[in-house]
Amino acid sequence: MKAIEVNGLSKSYGPIIAVSGLDLHVDEGEIFGLLGPNGCGKTTAIKMLLGLVRPDSGSAKVLGRKAGSKGSLENVGYMPQETALYEELTVKENLKLFAGINGLSGNEYRKREDEVLDLVNLGERRDSILSTLSGGQRHRVSLAVSMVHAPRLLFLDEPTVGVDPPLRANFWRTFRKMRDRGLTIIMTTHYMDEAVNCDLIAMMREGRIIAQGSPSEVMSRSKAGNLEDAFLKLSREEVKV
Ligand SMILES: Nc1ncnc2c1ncn2[C@@H]1O[C@H](COP(=O)(O)OP(=O)(O)OP(=O)(O)O)[C@@H](O)[C@H]1O
Ligand SMILES: [Mg+2]
Repeated sequence: MKAIEVNGLSKSYGPIIAVSGLDLHVDEGEIFGLLGPNGCGKTTAIKMLLGLVRPDSGSAKVLGRKAGSKGSLENVGYMPQETALYEELTVKENLKLFAGINGLSGNEYRKREDEVLDLVNLGERRDSILSTLSGGQRHRVSLAVSMVHAPRLLFLDEPTVGVDPPLRANFWRTFRKMRDRGLTIIMTTHYMDEAVNCDLIAMMREGRIIAQGSPSEVMSRSKAGNLEDAFLKLSREEVKV
């Protein structure tokens, strides 16, 4: 089964075209990166797949179910770009709350707690009130919350923004470990250099995909030595057309 199937998905806000004719087909067990500069439509695309934003046209399926339909978020995890956690609760209480919202029983939650806290290296802070954590630590709680219910498909919107380099490397190790266990990750980033860690990428510009494939395919097709140069070259070609 495809993890996501998107055909001709579009969304405008008045005169602003946020996403235009998006086509994406991602197999299960891949790390797929949606990349592009601020405002190119990455978050809007993800929100349409989650059923949080209604598309103007096009269709999208998530794990075989129509995006936004009843049950379409079963087995799906989401880390929003803006952290949405309960500041007055502890790390553990946040985790437990979101586990419950996602249908995990108390027993199932207890089995997951140590595993997800280990993945984000926050075991020792489990009893800290969220408002007492640093920005990067809060970010890690947000990642832990998105995967506490062991989803099959995880949407991560800019998971590495504001995360220091050692922790970022740690995040990527975590993503690969989860991918190797069969999880599909759809993530966004505007850091082109780190997108080489993805199995597949789609580069977006002004709501449209300008290149798609493995990072090395995209670089060799645009005769660029890195993804940043590839993006700049492809953008110039687009402008010429
Ligand atoms: N609710 C909304 N109302 C009006 N315009 C919106 C809304 N949501 C997004 N937009 C516009 O749609 C465009 C795409 O926004 P989006 O948030 O999808 O970009 P992005 O690629 O996620 O950017 P960033 O890298 O900054 O997170 C932007 O021009 C934005 O201003
Ligand atoms: Mg965004």
